[in-house]
Amino acid sequence: MLDSDSSALQHRLQNTALILLSLVFLPLNTFILFWSSVYNRVFQSKVQQHRNANRNRASFKPKTILVTGVGMTKGLSLARLFYEAGHDVIGADFEPNGALVCGRVSKALKVFLPLRKPDARSGSAPYIQSLLDIVRDEKVDLWVSCSGVASAVEDGEAKQIIEARTSCKAIQFDIKTTQMLHEKHTFIAHTEEIGLTIPETHTITSRDAVDAALRRAPEGRKYIMKTIGMVDAFRADMTLLPKSTTEETAKHLSRLDISKQSPWILQQFIKGQEYCTHSLVVKGHVRAFVACPSAELLMHYEALPPSSKLSRSMLEFTKTYAKAGGESFTGHLSFDFLVEQQELDCLNNNPDAKLTLYPIECNPRAHTAVALFNGTTAMADAYLTLLDSRPAPRADSKMNGTTTETIVTPRDLKTRYYWVGHDLVNLVLLPLLALLALQRGSSITSVIRGIDLFLDRLLSWKDGTYELWDPLPWWWLYHIYWPGQFWNTLKADKKWSRINVSTCKIFAC
Ligand SMILES: *[C@@H]1O[C@H](CO)[C@@H](O)[C@H](O)[C@H]1NC(C)=O
Ligand SMILES: *[C@@H]1O[C@H](CO)[C@@H](O)[C@H](O)[C@H]1NC(C)=O
Ligand SMILES: *[C@@H]1O[C@H](CO)[C@@H](O)[C@H](O)[C@H]1NC(C)=O
Repeated sequence: MLDSDSSALQHRLQNTALILLSLVFLPLNTFILFWSSVYNRVFQSKVQQHRNANRNRASFKPKTILVTGVGMTKGLSLARLFYEAGHDVIGADFEPNGALVCGRVSKALKVFLPLRKPDARSGSAPYIQSLLDIVRDEKVDLWVSCSGVASAVEDGEAKQIIEARTSCKAIQFDIKTTQMLHEKHTFIAHTEEIGLTIPETHTITSRDAVDAALRRAPEGRKYIMKTIGMVDAFRADMTLLPKSTTEETAKHLSRLDISKQSPWILQQFIKGQEYCTHSLVVKGHVRAFVACPSAELLMHYEALPPSSKLSRSMLEFTKTYAKAGGESFTGHLSFDFLVEQQELDCLNNNPDAKLTLYPIECNPRAHTAVALFNGTTAMADAYLTLLDSRPAPRADSKMNGTTTETIVTPRDLKTRYYWVGHDLVNLVLLPLLALLALQRGSSITSVIRGIDLFLDRLLSWKDGTYELWDPLPWWWLYHIYWPGQFWNTLKADKKWSRINVSTCKIFAC
């Protein structure tokens, strides 16, 4: 992939090449789309059977559910779950610059409605108004917020306004909670406050503070610096501090802009494996939970068995958080944890070995790992507990030692998810191009290894967007949405360094 140092011409070529790639695959993918549709005419899908069975039950009352963010895999997955459960699903998302998101063509939606983006001039008002209009016009019972990073706080604002003015309830934390969880330093402070383990963390607003913290550090402990805001350029910086000499450390630090206006955190470095979780919390109770190993760019998902010690520990952590939040704590909650390699090795030999979780980040919003819940029919009911007027069963009510609270976990633990477009480019085309351009470090074996991995995924993993019963969003993603995005950047002559297929974001540089 290119970065900001590459020339504008290279960027234009890259965009053109990706549009051509989409054209090359158009016949094949259209063929797949066609046959999927024919198949659906002839055979009724399991999803459709479940939906019909539920809707024919006399006691079943369909709800109107608004899912925002259906242009991303997570929103689309949730919309499909509610559809399968028999509800009426309204989908919504931003469509900046005439982009047409893939979720808009999903069979799961009764209707798709575009949202207005918060902007610098009028702030969040147009966005919240557009949500409010949808809630009123469509008589929405439940709003499941599934937005990206950019509108997290606006969503907190929207929740408060919608719940105050309509009878609709929202799966979304309020502004204060969203902000507290979203910022790394306040999240860590809160975690410590409620009695959970944290990695050693300092909020840094001056060079002196870094020096002081490093001086007091225990022997051998290393640290990393992270910006508190979302400055993309520094996100991937994993330089370990202190470096081998004081001069090198000083040199590295002098390159960083540290001040009251641009604060950082200095955090203990933990050598090990990273895990992430996705959970649904309703009124302070965890209702659905999944944990999985984090992969680079989070483009590959595989659930940990809920009975494993790792998954259980992360669930306990989440429960403690939810309980501390109290009755008004409702939303999607996801954490990133680090576990030391040596403890993981111990765990392999002894399932009861000690396990320390180091939370490093919290995202108060849905995580793409929610895709792992496909076909988990109990999921819709877990969301609908928010509409129950009965008080929720207390999390700590115990009957002979076991809690009575039910927590939904993915029904199918064997399915692993990837995104075919992402892997085709990263595992097959880029290594091949590198080989043809005789780049250093490339070889026939690396190309073969990439192709081998790609074929393995193609045959035994599942694409995050493709569903046999609802194939159009997948076709749309690769042949309408992405070519459109590349065309836009080509027209505007912009540069990008990374794209995220699951969230459909382009990272400018
Ligand atoms: C890609 O999307 C996932 C899914 O939400 C997100 O968690 C992840 O941080 C994104 N990757 C990057 C590099 O931003
Ligand atoms: C999702 O679940 C449905 C059953 O509810 C199943 O028919 C379908 O194959 C699943 N999709 C994937 C990608 O596993
Ligand atoms: C006690 O726990 C066992 C399982 O451990 C369960 O089968 C039984 O129904 C429980 N009894 C009551 C009264 O909840």
